[in-house]
Amino acid sequence: MHVERLQHVFEIFGKRAQGKTCDAIEGIIAQGEKIIEDFKGQPAMDAGLASAAQAVEHYEIARYCTLTRWAGDLGLKDAQKFLITALQEETKTDEALTALAEASLNAAAKVATAR
Ligand SMILES: [Fe+2]
Repeated sequence: MHVERLQHVFEIFGKRAQGKTCDAIEGIIAQGEKIIEDFKGQPAMDAGLASAAQAVEHYEIARYCTLTRWAGDLGLKDAQKFLITALQEETKTDEALTALAEASLNAAAKVATAR
């Protein structure tokens, strides 16, 4: 849905959407791989991976915040609407990850670390 939504935004600008590698996200993914390497089989791995996933969400939230503002500044209300929807979804995902970490992952990692 995100891809489709972004394609609509590009259409509004009269541009063709195309994929591009993001060094920041690649770096966060590499951090996740390091977490797996360091904590494989331990509860800390799940807590760490949740934090890495949240780092991705926070990056996406930052980008969508900026793009939403720019679309508004340019008077592109339709594009802004799509971007606000994406921003809301990213925020929900971040909140769900926080809830998961707080409800179980962090406590499990803490108990395992205290042993
Ligand atoms: Fe996301």
